[in-house]
Amino acid sequence: MRNFTCVQDLGDLQQALKEAFEIKKDRFQFSELGKNKTLLMIFFNSSLRTRLSTQKAAMNLGMNTIVLDVNQGAWKLETERGVIMDGDKPEHLLEAIPVMGCYCDVIGVRSFARFENKADDYNEKILNQFIQYSGRPVFSMEAATRHPLQSFADLITIEEYKKTARPKVVMTWAPHPKALPQAVPNSFAEWMNATDYEFVITHPEGYELDPKFVGHAKVEYDQKKALEGADFVYAKNWAAYQDPNYGKVINMDRNWTVDTEKMALTNNAYFMHCLPVRRNMIVTDDVIESPQSIVIPEAANREISAQTVLKKILEGLK
Ligand code: CP
Repeated sequence: MRNFTCVQDLGDLQQALKEAFEIKKDRFQFSELGKNKTLLMIFFNSSLRTRLSTQKAAMNLGMNTIVLDVNQGAWKLETERGVIMDGDKPEHLLEAIPVMGCYCDVIGVRSFARFENKADDYNEKILNQFIQYSGRPVFSMEAATRHPLQSFADLITIEEYKKTARPKVVMTWAPHPKALPQAVPNSFAEWMNATDYEFVITHPEGYELDPKFVGHAKVEYDQKKALEGADFVYAKNWAAYQDPNYGKVINMDRNWTVDTEKMALTNNAYFMHCLPVRRNMIVTDDVIESPQSIVIPEAANREISAQTVLKKILEGLK
């Protein structure tokens, strides 16, 4: 594997899951693979889980790691071609990217949707420039439209907890005060569509996702109806995708918050969220603290998804 930006890059998903569970049994069994190899992790946006789990995964594989927070201590980067650079950005991304590539063997990039230009976001302008100009394998640590390391960890978690071969998984929109990108729900939908699970998406009208990601999921606007019989409830907020409201918060209705009453409609479902989560907006204290909440094992599996992806990239370097 050269680059990792979406589920298709992994190849055979069942094989990738098998590798992930093999790594989970003994995460230090491949500690020679990354010897004398350097991972550069570049963050244009904040992170707790992605930063720690990816660095830990690289260390398990014997890699050295460098972390760069672009907005803290690095030169401010211009991203547009043709701009007369007489403002506050002294360096262009088109020089910075190949320079970064000189110091490492693999690059991880976090660059969220900016909600300034929908085409730029949905064409993954920043991530693709890293792929094009760095000369190194690049993997997404959450880009504008997808968060594949999170979705892979979500899938590993569902595989671990599922009680039937084909569980019902419901992704529900929930309210949030800020405009959040669609990367997590897009990506989760893409990965669920790559399984044979029963997959349902529920959200208020106006929050329809890009059909490319919705795929063959059932969309149900009645949240309670959607949750009936669910085995897994995956809560997430996202800002509107459809024009003219792209990137806007158009609903903050707390009737969509996941609470015990909603969970009672399910098949004793497990509650999932990628974290960080705003309590009593997305989910009540009672639900996230309940025995059915698996948000911590889900976060723990970020180390496994990152290590599986890094292992495949390192194997491709040889
Ligand atoms: N879920 C996730 O990606 O968490 P961070 O934003 O903290 O990395």
